[in-house]
Amino acid sequence: VAYAGVWQPPPGLLGNFPHLQAIFSLGAGVDHVTNDPALPRVPIVRIVDPDLTMRMSEYVALHVLMYHRRQRLYDAQQHERVWREHDQPPASEVAVGVMGLGVLGRDAAALLLRLGFRVAGWSRSLKALPGIETFHGPGGLEGFLRRTEILVCLLPATPATAAILTLDLFRKLKGDGAASGAYLINAGRGALQVDADIVAALDEGSLCGATLDVFPTEPLPPASPLWRHPKVTITPHNAAASDPRPLVANILRQIQRFEAGLPLDHVVNRGAGY
Ligand code: NAP
Ligand code: GLV
Repeated sequence: VAYAGVWQPPPGLLGNFPHLQAIFSLGAGVDHVTNDPALPRVPIVRIVDPDLTMRMSEYVALHVLMYHRRQRLYDAQQHERVWREHDQPPASEVAVGVMGLGVLGRDAAALLLRLGFRVAGWSRSLKALPGIETFHGPGGLEGFLRRTEILVCLLPATPATAAILTLDLFRKLKGDGAASGAYLINAGRGALQVDADIVAALDEGSLCGATLDVFPTEPLPPASPLWRHPKVTITPHNAAASDPRPLVANILRQIQRFEAGLPLDHVVNRGAGY
C-alpha cells in the first residue's frame, strides 16, 4: 500500500504499511489523522477542493443570514399565527467575524462581504484581504471579539485552538450592535468548543443563538442539553461534507502529480497541526 485515504483511522493502523508514501485525509481537517501517536513520518495531505469550499460558504451564509434576518423569531411567530414585522438593520451595520482565514474562512468571508456585512477575520499570521478587517495572533483576539456580533468559527483543532470557545470569550463579543445580540456559528471542530459554556452563555444572554455543526463528542449524546435548547441549531457535522466524486478525482490528481515527480499540494505542517 503506497497511499492511504482515511477518515478517523484507528490509532496505530497506518503504522502497519511499510511502503506508505502519503496519507490523504478524506476531509479538510486532519486532527483525526494527526492524533495517532504512531503515525508514520510520511506527508499528510488535506482536501482543498472548490466543491467542499462552496458547501462550507453556503452553510456559513445560511446561518449568518438566519440570525441577521431573525428567521427563528419569524418561525416562532408563524407557529402562533402572528403577523408582526420587526426592525431589520441593513447588513452593512452588522459585524461578522470569521475565526480562521484559511481556504474556508477566506471564501466564507468574501461571500459575507458580497452580502454586505462588515466582515473581519482572525488568523495565526498577519493577513491583508481586500475589504476585510484582519486581526492575528493571541494579541489580536480581544479586538476582533469586541467588534464582532456574529462569530463564525472555521479554525482547525490543534493544541493551540483546543477549547478556545469559552464563556469568557463569548462575553467579549459585541452584544449591543445592530444584530441586537451576539451569535456563534461553529463549523470548525468540536474540540474548539466547551459545550457547557455555550449553554451558560445562551442562558445568561451573552449569546443569543448558536449554530453548531461539530461537537467534542460525535454523534452528540442524547443527554446533551444542546439538543433541546431553544436557542441552538444543530446539524450532524455536515456543513461541508466531502462528496466522493470530486474527492476521489482530487486525490487521483495528486497521486498522478506525485508519481510524475511533482510536489504534493496542501501538505499539512505537522508542527502546527494543520
Ligand atoms: P486552513 O486553510 O488550514 O486554515 C486554517 C486557518 O486557521 C488559517 O487561517 C490559520 O491561520 C488559522 N489558525 C490556525 N491555528 C490558529 C491559531 N492558533 N490562532 C489563530 N488562527 C489559527 O483550513 P481550512 O481548509 O480553512 O479548514 C478549516 C477547518 O474547517 C478544518 O481544519 C476543519 O476542522 C474544519 N472543517 C469542517 C467541516 C465541516 O463539515 N464541519 C468541513 C471542512 C472543514 P494562518 O492563516 O495564519 O495559518
Ligand atoms: C470535515 O469535517 C472536514 O474536515 O472536511
